[in-house]
Amino acid sequence: MTPEQIKLVQDSFNEVIPISDQAAELFYGRLFSQNPQFKALFSGDMKDQGKKLMQHLNMVVRGLNKLDQIVPAVQSLGRKHVEYGVQPEDYAAVGEALIWTLEQGLGRSFTREVREAWLAAYKVLAATMIESASHHAKDAA
Ligand code: HEM
Repeated sequence: MTPEQIKLVQDSFNEVIPISDQAAELFYGRLFSQNPQFKALFSGDMKDQGKKLMQHLNMVVRGLNKLDQIVPAVQSLGRKHVEYGVQPEDYAAVGEALIWTLEQGLGRSFTREVREAWLAAYKVLAATMIESASHHAKDAA
């Protein structure tokens, strides 16, 4: 990611914070309408889950310009997801739901540059989680 992309992600996320409850609701609505099979993976209260998701995104977004500091937390989240039953190929669908949600929430400020910056950020995040998950699976075997 370029420094400009990091700034685009951080600035646009600031616009999402005031609407984070609605954004989380939109996100899960989209995720489950497109991927009903994921519903079975979630057991907890979806309101709590939405809060955790937004807090986590906040941590990642703030940490984009000091990635080395947040990588351990992202890796540990990746290993947790193996236990939740999440497969590497599921990350694409979650990325799609996230981008769709940002588009709804940000409207006209979700420009092509902002979209590309978010895609780049999600790619780094998902790749780090998937990578740590593959180590985890090996360790467990
Ligand atoms: C970059 C991508 C993702 C982020 C930032 C993220 C974030 C989180 C966070 C913060 C939690 C709560 C963890 C905790 O309780 O400590 C969580 C739980 C969970 N996530 Fe994700 N997640 C991501 C990708 C995915 C994907 C691809 C799936 C696949 C459907 C998924 C499904 C779940 C499930 C099933 C839980 C547990 C829910 C429960 O306890 O009922 N996540 N996620």
